[in-house]
Amino acid sequence: MKDKTDMIYITTPIYYVNAEPHLGHAYTSIVADVFTRFNRLAGKETYFLTGTDEHGDKIVKAAEKNNETPQKYADRISNKFESLWPRLNISNNDFIRTTEERHKKVVIEILQKIYDKGDIYFSEYGGLYCYGCERFYLERELIDNKCPDHKTEPAFISEKNYFFRMSKYQDWLVDHIKKNSDFIRPERYKNEVLSFLKEPLDDLCISRPKSRLTWGITLPFDDQFVTYVWFDALINYLSAIGYPDNKLMRFWPHVNHIIAKDILKPHAIYWPTMLKAAGIRTYRSLNVHGFWNVEDNKMSKSLGNVIKPLDMIDTYGVDAFRFFLLRDMVFGLDSSFNETSLINRINSDLANDIGNLFSRTVSMLKKFCNSEVPASYKLMEEDINIIKQANKTCENYCKEMSEMSFHKGLISIWKLIGSANRYIVETEPWALAKSEDKRPRLNTVMNTLMECLRVIAVLINPIMPETSEKMFSQMGLDASYLNIEKAFLWDQIPAGTIAKIKEPLFPRVKDDKPVKNKN
Ligand code: MSP
Repeated sequence: MKDKTDMIYITTPIYYVNAEPHLGHAYTSIVADVFTRFNRLAGKETYFLTGTDEHGDKIVKAAEKNNETPQKYADRISNKFESLWPRLNISNNDFIRTTEERHKKVVIEILQKIYDKGDIYFSEYGGLYCYGCERFYLERELIDNKCPDHKTEPAFISEKNYFFRMSKYQDWLVDHIKKNSDFIRPERYKNEVLSFLKEPLDDLCISRPKSRLTWGITLPFDDQFVTYVWFDALINYLSAIGYPDNKLMRFWPHVNHIIAKDILKPHAIYWPTMLKAAGIRTYRSLNVHGFWNVEDNKMSKSLGNVIKPLDMIDTYGVDAFRFFLLRDMVFGLDSSFNETSLINRINSDLANDIGNLFSRTVSMLKKFCNSEVPASYKLMEEDINIIKQANKTCENYCKEMSEMSFHKGLISIWKLIGSANRYIVETEPWALAKSEDKRPRLNTVMNTLMECLRVIAVLINPIMPETSEKMFSQMGLDASYLNIEKAFLWDQIPAGTIAKIKEPLFPRVKDDKPVKNKN
């Protein structure tokens, strides 16, 4: 990312309240959280927003099924999202709901602005409408005459509606995407959007007559219509920071949206053109990830393979779950969730690699140095190599994390962990501890290992905040060590610091009881 400013605003999609939170929602929120924590660690001022999308047909139907009013139903499901996030250690600053007054008033203001400018007009339109997607489809977009998402035939409906002159902004949008290399990333999604934009853009139908839908925001210029869900939902990113004049609006130029590929078009096409029409500068960057399948199938209620985040964290712990998701998915590509792979990663990467490095080091410190971190003596080549590698790791990590290549960031940390484990084998602290004249060498080795652990504890912090804190507290270090700048420095732990060994970081998991087989 080339954004060298000292602030960043990070958003997740606002999730529909017609389904309970699952793995897919959890992944996006965790990615957004990791990215926020990484930026905080790097000293940026951050603002992190998530929330729920509560208007539209889908919600009305789901509420009816549950014999509830839309509002009651929305309150209940929204609460499930809001209360899940702290359990996953999601550190959002705000949670916006589209049924809140603060949101509605901004939607109305922006609609009016675009209307006054002449970019919203009234017209008759007949077309193929998918109730699931809540949008009209062009014939060429259908597969076997069916909606590609819902696999149902759209209905032909004809009605008068309001339209946003989206086509007017097509050339501007193409130009903007081409000129700003990280406006849509990774590259594959930017190319997808540009290729879509090779065809002329239609104008966007932005209203629904109240005869068909009342659960929405009434248009300020015609009370017989409500706003189309996307026109309502996208504006959350502005209403939450108090558009137009709240002081949080200073974050706007630095906004990074995080979404999955399913909602690329509304975010890459509707949203920037809406902003342009309203005279608001467009967002800084749209970051698009792929889809989680489950053992190579689409995750769905009917297949009964929906992965519930709470089941996972109750069984494996929140940090292990966060680590696995970030380590296993290449940001931008699809991935297949598999509980056995999760267990394998916990046992190899967590219990074995980082867990062993930590417990061996801290218990040797206890045994050979009375738990006191010694000062280092004369550095030898093997020490210098590891110090250099730690520094290089910090560099790689910062580059990869800022480009959202989380799995690569983790791979570089794990290379350092591997080297530190080999360093123990090569330097044999237990042999050094046998003779008093090897004491200076032993001290240097133990100091080097503790410094290495300190760097690792900083770098894993955005991904596994609880483990990072556990490491710091057992190493006798406080939160002042928690920043990227200090990770680049060596010799930070004062000699005499006392480590307190406690339980292992990650106990091994037996491969015999995946959650899905438990009941
Ligand atoms: N309400 C709209 C978004 C409006 S944003 C202005 C919406 N909601 S949603 O509940 O359907 O959430 C879609 C998002 O949830 C995806 O973009 C992605 O972030 C996440 N995921 C849902 N299922 C997913 C997977 N199977 N895999 C990965 N993420 C997915 O669309």
